[in-house]
Amino acid sequence: MNNFSFFNNTKIIFGEGQINQLTQEIPADATVMIIYGGGSIKKNGIFDQVVNALEGKKWVEFGGIEPNPHYDTCLKAVEKIKQEDVDFLLAVGGGSVIDATKFIAAAAKHQGDPWAIIQSFGGAVQGALPIGCVLTLAATGSEMNPTAVVTRADTQDKLFFNSDYVRPHFSILDPQTTYSLPARQVGNGVVDSFVHVLEQYVTYPVNAKVQDRFAEGLLATILEEGPRALIEPENYDVRANLMWAATMALNGLIASGVPADWATHLIGQEITGLYGLDHAQTLAIVMPAVWTYKVEQKREKLAQYGRRVLGIIEADDLVAAEKAIVRSREFFEAMGVRTRLADYGLSADIIPNIIAKLQEHQFIQLGEHGDITPDDVSKILKLAL
Ligand code: NZQ
Ligand code: ZN
Repeated sequence: MNNFSFFNNTKIIFGEGQINQLTQEIPADATVMIIYGGGSIKKNGIFDQVVNALEGKKWVEFGGIEPNPHYDTCLKAVEKIKQEDVDFLLAVGGGSVIDATKFIAAAAKHQGDPWAIIQSFGGAVQGALPIGCVLTLAATGSEMNPTAVVTRADTQDKLFFNSDYVRPHFSILDPQTTYSLPARQVGNGVVDSFVHVLEQYVTYPVNAKVQDRFAEGLLATILEEGPRALIEPENYDVRANLMWAATMALNGLIASGVPADWATHLIGQEITGLYGLDHAQTLAIVMPAVWTYKVEQKREKLAQYGRRVLGIIEADDLVAAEKAIVRSREFFEAMGVRTRLADYGLSADIIPNIIAKLQEHQFIQLGEHGDITPDDVSKILKLAL
């Protein structure tokens, strides 16, 4: 096992009816800004639940955060914060709304050009407004981590930053909020959370038994409950298990003391930035291709995943690894997330543009060994056509 330090100070309030806990979690004299997306929370009753829970508190609202949130929209929220003297941010939504809120929280306290927050990968963050979350989509883990991903539409740059300043103070996870998700977002959430675990697990063995078995437990849970959520959208236990699995998949716990890959995410981010695919769609395309390209290096962990999670019984590691790749692709497809560039109308023509963006962003040594170069990415994307 590698050395590590583990820290997570986000309070999780989990379960049915927990939105009414908001009032205890936000300071009595705070002026709250409710930040949300395209309006789903106004149709499914979540906005009303939040407003009821905030009774007696001063609040304003800022809606219109896009999926893959835009930098310019976030800056408009910062202006409103200054005009209205807001001192607490409440994100009500999925990963996009929470990520936008993290950026807004940091930008509101930033002196100078806020793009520096992104360019420095968060190093330039000087402080942040406090954040609380009401999660409505189980997927990203943003509700319990220090990461945010923001898109600059004019230059098609989709980039992340990390800062302990933007960790949510609390996140309310009521599985019932996810009943209204369209099937496409259920599939996306299942694939994203599954891939988060795999990025931190399908690398090379370091004899980290606790982390491996936590990861395998999360994978088995998502594999079992994901398809059920499509068939039984209002099954509380299914939604609860998926919600907690997605949070645990990217809150630092299973990352501790083990190598991580993240090549799939970094390549996928460029595909979304340039061509607008959903985050999970890019992962479903890229991960099987990365694994096929790196099957020799990754075969021990792929085989372990295949045997312990997927029930593959092949004795030979390479054969088990190859079967695990096929089975993972089948799982993504079963969740309604297609796994080929061609499924989204994209061809080999996009490859030079992806490579150029990766080079511009200095993502030129990817993977757990840092040995995936732009030339390798080109070969990987050819496997994804
Ligand atoms: O805009 P609204 O009205 O909220 O509708 C959203 C949006 O259209 C809708 N939705 C959310 N909850 C709903 C609902 N519709 C009905 N009922 C509900 N309960 O779903 C659509 C997608 O929402 P979005 O927030 O974009 O999805 P997701 O949670 O998958 O977030 C994706 C974003 O998170 C980033 C991605 O790159 C992407 O920008 N990620 C953030 C990470 C992090 N902070 O750690 C890690 C991830 O790897 C990921 O990169
Ligand atoms: Zn992701």
